Amino acid sequence: MDSDQKATVEMMKDSYGLDHVLLREPRGASARVYLFGGQVTSWKNERQEELLFMSSKALFKPPKAIRGGIPICFPQFGNSGSLEQHGFARNKFWTIDNNPPPLPANDYHNKAIVDLILKSNDDDLKSWPYCFELRLRVALAPGGDLTLISRIRNIDSKSFTFSFAYHTYFCVSDISEVRIEGLETLDYLDNLQDKERFTEQSDAITFESEVDRVYLSTPTKIAILDHEKKRTFVLRKDGLPDAVVWNPWEKKAKAIVDFGDDEYKHMLCVDGAAIEKPITLRPGEEWKGRIELSAVASSYCSGQLDPQRVLEG
Ligand code: BG6
Repeated sequence: MDSDQKATVEMMKDSYGLDHVLLREPRGASARVYLFGGQVTSWKNERQEELLFMSSKALFKPPKAIRGGIPICFPQFGNSGSLEQHGFARNKFWTIDNNPPPLPANDYHNKAIVDLILKSNDDDLKSWPYCFELRLRVALAPGGDLTLISRIRNIDSKSFTFSFAYHTYFCVSDISEVRIEGLETLDYLDNLQDKERFTEQSDAITFESEVDRVYLSTPTKIAILDHEKKRTFVLRKDGLPDAVVWNPWEKKAKAIVDFGDDEYKHMLCVDGAAIEKPITLRPGEEWKGRIELSAVASSYCSGQLDPQRVLEG
């Protein structure tokens, strides 16, 4: 693509007939956003390398959520009560938002942007009896950074409470070589131990078995360092105090039908989320939650990572 070219936004259909939007920025980075689930399914850098994990067994068959990319968990994260696991937003068809929030003047210059919306329908009202509007803006910046902004508005006559997560499946070379910086010393709820609360003791989070945790009150910036790829993902978040860290490892991977047996080696979910303290919106109120993802070359110094540089930068 010529560097004078503008960012483009193109509506497409996949081979299953599902609508999606392809965002492309002039230097070659791209992102794909499905209307089903309001789900980002691909994010590529300028060299066309895929940065998100998508299972080779993912079923693009609604209403089953697509296994990979960035599923949106709303109105709940997890599986409490009568709602389905991780809520219904990821199982629904969203539409293009014809009345999107205004674009900040300079900030959005030459970004490829799509605005989607999900509204409650009669079906949803049976399982979750509140009228809402969930707007999602996906923006791909020159250079390839990907931003997702969700706005949830209460258009009901009563208050409602929800939890939320951007269930982001990062693509990694080898999970055993990956570490997360930014969550050390924090408290977390361990989903593998009845959500019991623990304090992280290690200097950095590394992986040698199944991990399924919700880290609490996390910093706005978290780094995922992929030693083998010499790549660091930086996750910046706003309005999302918690961070889920999930890798199913070998045994759980085999039990998930739309997930390859060995694929756990090449993925890691780190979600910007609001879980521990669910959000309550009164009628007319709006909540906003934002993540920004960057992929940068890891800073190495004699084989030592320098995470501080990433986290302070
Ligand atoms: C994680 C949860 O975030 O999502 C796990 O903490 C769960 O417990 C995983 O297994 C995948 O969920 P699902 O519904 O997409 O299979």
